[in-house]
Amino acid sequence: MQRRQFLKSTAVTGTGLLFLPASTLRGEDAPSNKLNIALIGVWGRALAHHGALATQNVVALCDVDENHLALAAEKFPKAKHYVDWRKCLEQKDIDAVVCCTLDHTHAFVANWAMNRGLHVYCEKPLANSVEEARVVRATHLKNKGKLATQVGTQRHAIENFNRVRELIRDGAIGDLESACAWGDRQLRRPGYLPAEGEPPSTLHFDLWLGPSPEHPYNPGYFAGQPGMNCLNWNMYWDFGSGQVGDMGSHTMDLVWNAIDAGLPTSAEGKGETYNPEVTPVELTTTFEHPANNWRPAITVGWYQGGAMPESPRSYVDLKRIDHGAVFEGSKGALVADFGSRVLIPHNDKADLTYYKPRTQEQLIPPLGGFQQEWLNACKGDLKTSCDFDYGGTLIEQMLLGLVAYRVGKKLDYDGATGRVTNSAEGNELLKRKYRPGWALDA
Ligand SMILES: NC(=O)c1ccc[n+]([C@@H]2O[C@H](COP(=O)([O-])OP(=O)(O)OC[C@H]3O[C@@H](n4cnc5c(N)ncnc54)[C@H](O)[C@@H]3O)[C@@H](O)[C@H]2O)c1
Repeated sequence: MQRRQFLKSTAVTGTGLLFLPASTLRGEDAPSNKLNIALIGVWGRALAHHGALATQNVVALCDVDENHLALAAEKFPKAKHYVDWRKCLEQKDIDAVVCCTLDHTHAFVANWAMNRGLHVYCEKPLANSVEEARVVRATHLKNKGKLATQVGTQRHAIENFNRVRELIRDGAIGDLESACAWGDRQLRRPGYLPAEGEPPSTLHFDLWLGPSPEHPYNPGYFAGQPGMNCLNWNMYWDFGSGQVGDMGSHTMDLVWNAIDAGLPTSAEGKGETYNPEVTPVELTTTFEHPANNWRPAITVGWYQGGAMPESPRSYVDLKRIDHGAVFEGSKGALVADFGSRVLIPHNDKADLTYYKPRTQEQLIPPLGGFQQEWLNACKGDLKTSCDFDYGGTLIEQMLLGLVAYRVGKKLDYDGATGRVTNSAEGNELLKRKYRPGWALDA
């Protein structure tokens, strides 16, 4: 029996408990029940994971910055060290991977890890192109029933997400007609940073670039505070998708959680003039989604960088919410941010008699710890709230919006095949070009 199967079966049935004294075995964090984890990208955002990971065995640390490896080693002294995640994934005793690297490597690490039978927690955004999102989702689906996956959209655990879903599903605004999310973060950059100095000897800059095309070193890519440094590179096309993948991953999640959507049948995008080096700050993308078994066809929108949806009522100033969502229905609207919501019944008929609030017992139960949910899933039923199917379709839609923006016309999209059916240029832009030697699905 492989170690991973052993962990799963001990978590579910208690099998194997005879081999060690009971006192050391009981409980989630008993030695026999700990996961062997590889942390890839060990500093910055990874610091938010150190606490949860310290409850398990961190057996491998991988980072392109040797100084970051040394710092993380103080917390996880027993782990082996790597600078290349491809080598790290060869370590034989790993059960699971937490990936906190740059956006342009997420799909690679996630895919390679799943192909090696490893559970994966991957920071948002899960992918940097439509193709990457689809490949990762396909690998996840192929391994369904074997691996636990989670996209790092930890705000999903805020209980307001459940309350918003309940109000929409229970008809508090009547039949759902549209939903949208927005974010107001604006980071303007003219283009890739020019060559400046040499990378320090402790930084493996070529591995930092990874599959992306060559760019010269500039310390500006590394100048941010831990956990915020992504804002120093994620707006450049070769490294990220700007606010689409950044706050878009979190804020569209508020909508995604409530609408039970698959992939859209069309996408449109408009915004500031296209810059081949930098993703747009101001952007509006709109998608059509077919009806499902509880709601009619709807439109879904994403607004960023100053573009805003129309407010359902003039006295509600949406601009006072930095990241939020609006749901419009036949009888009213719901405005939400991550932590709260406002219900706005629309007219004389919207007396709420058609809507029955849930009892305490009927409320969607709290998710609990978001990271913990994944750790438990790895050892148990493999179920998480933001698996690579849920999170994969979300980011596929968001990135398709960027393609529509670049093409400049309404794209018809076949979600089954992942093809744009009315634009050859659109199809080309679904994928990224990689440097020789880098394979997404290996
Ligand atoms: N869920 C959230 O709320 C949240 C918050 C912040 C950042 N993030 C995400 O976390 C990721 C990292 O962001 P950050 O600000 O920590 O970035 P960062 O630039 O600080 O990089 C994080 C770490 O990864 C290392 N690294 C970079 N490329 C690597 C590679 N190829 N292999 C191994 N290590 C590599 C860096 O040296 C650094 O230690 C981003 O994708 C970002 O979107 C998520």
